[in-house]
Amino acid sequence: MQDATDFRVTVTGAGPWQVDTELLVIPLFENEPLQIRDLNEATGGEIGRALASGAVKGKPFEIFVTPTQGTAWRARRVALIGAGPEREFTSDRARKMATAAAIAARQQRVIRLAYVHRGGGDAAVFGQAVAEGFMLATFNPGAYKTEDRDFVPARSMEFVTEGAVDGPVAQAVERGRLLGACSNLSRTLCNEPGGSLPPRVFAERAGEIAASGGAQVEILDDQRIAELGMALLLGVARGSHEKPRLVVMRHEPNDAPPSPVLGLVGKGITFDTGGISLKPADGMEQMKHDMTGGASVAAAMRAIGLLGAPIRVVGVIPAAENMPGGEAIRPGDVLRGASGKTVEVINTDAEGRLILGDALWYARQLGATHLVDVATLTGAIVVALGKLTTGLFGTPPGWVDVVREVAERAGDRAWPMPVFEEYKEQLKSEIADIANVGGRPAGAITAALFLKEFAGGLPWVHLDIAGTAWAEEAKPFMPKGPTGVAVRTLAELAFTSDRWTF
Ligand code: BES
Ligand code: MN
Ligand code: ZN
Repeated sequence: MQDATDFRVTVTGAGPWQVDTELLVIPLFENEPLQIRDLNEATGGEIGRALASGAVKGKPFEIFVTPTQGTAWRARRVALIGAGPEREFTSDRARKMATAAAIAARQQRVIRLAYVHRGGGDAAVFGQAVAEGFMLATFNPGAYKTEDRDFVPARSMEFVTEGAVDGPVAQAVERGRLLGACSNLSRTLCNEPGGSLPPRVFAERAGEIAASGGAQVEILDDQRIAELGMALLLGVARGSHEKPRLVVMRHEPNDAPPSPVLGLVGKGITFDTGGISLKPADGMEQMKHDMTGGASVAAAMRAIGLLGAPIRVVGVIPAAENMPGGEAIRPGDVLRGASGKTVEVINTDAEGRLILGDALWYARQLGATHLVDVATLTGAIVVALGKLTTGLFGTPPGWVDVVREVAERAGDRAWPMPVFEEYKEQLKSEIADIANVGGRPAGAITAALFLKEFAGGLPWVHLDIAGTAWAEEAKPFMPKGPTGVAVRTLAELAFTSDRWTF
């Protein structure tokens, strides 16, 4: 099991000039007259010249590196990293700055860096975010490159903050290290090609990740899935030679109350060809990441276990491959899922909602009282919200608000979308209880309404991560590829049950 014990994140209360490191990262706010002790002298006047000439202005993620001279400062090099306007400075900005700085450090073969906390925010909150950001930079998206001398991730980061470096800050930084590492475990799975990660293998890997945090894990095979009556999951899997799996993970601390029970459900389509309703060839390779929701649930379960969440949590991942084989389901076929509802499959490419229907039902059977599902569910959410924002659906509004706030803090931006019942008209079937597609208008909403039918009236949130799971453009703080979306949100959510009053 890949772990992050190689990476160290520590805290120091020393002054920046006292920190012995290869690269000292200092946030620079827009239009600030940077005055840190004798920093300018320590860099032979380079910092002053760069600021005066406008070579660095403090624009977000802009970076300026210069060596130090003499002995007044112990760091070998100093990096100013743009932090934007100080009044807009948030822990999310700091997280991204830490990633950007660590990626830049990696390109210069720097393996030890330190980050100076500036801007006056809560040191624990910022320390956690910076540790997360640093860990995110250690992810290698080129796992299969044979000549990968380029990739030597930074190994350690010291969080430099004035004043008391007491328990809370050190704990927060360790929490951030773990959460960043768990995000990367999800990214590693998402990056894996469909051919090397069929449902059987995906289920094993996901189960190992959750078990490594202490969760009890059970992997149900196709026979058990059939016994439970999960014809929606079996139906989607039918076109593939690879059998489906259902990963069931339980976090049950001894002293946890009987309720609430958080139920996390993640879509685990290991490859989505669309099935008989075949997708166009262009970009289909991206559909290897259609198991991101499941990977994020597994990685969150590990974090939940290691961080010792005080409540019971069950995780359910339905895993299948959506292929157009001779035994595949056809448009027009009717399936009766485990909940008893019948579904007319109008489009076999709307497979995520089918497998999630059975999985949501099962999470309820396992005693979940509060549900969150995560899925790369619709192209429509990408049209609506683009690549930066996860679609947030659910009911009641109080539960949606809790998840939204947690997501914001965790650096997973999510925005509420409506689930007005009137849209359900579009899901009417002539032959069955419900159809699996509702046409192009409001495509992400009708998908959510389909899932809602399986949530049994429980507080339920659906995160549509089709746009946010995979970065198509490299940013200073995020290379192209899997983003690890939702891992930190799901993990942190398990620590907020005192606020679940609505
Ligand atoms: N996995 C896709 C959604 C998706 C699209 C994920 C883009 C990531 C990036 C999903 O199974 C799908 O095919 N959805 C269809 C639904 C349609 C047939 C109603 C879609 O969005 O086109
Ligand atoms: Mn699909
Ligand atoms: Zn899909």
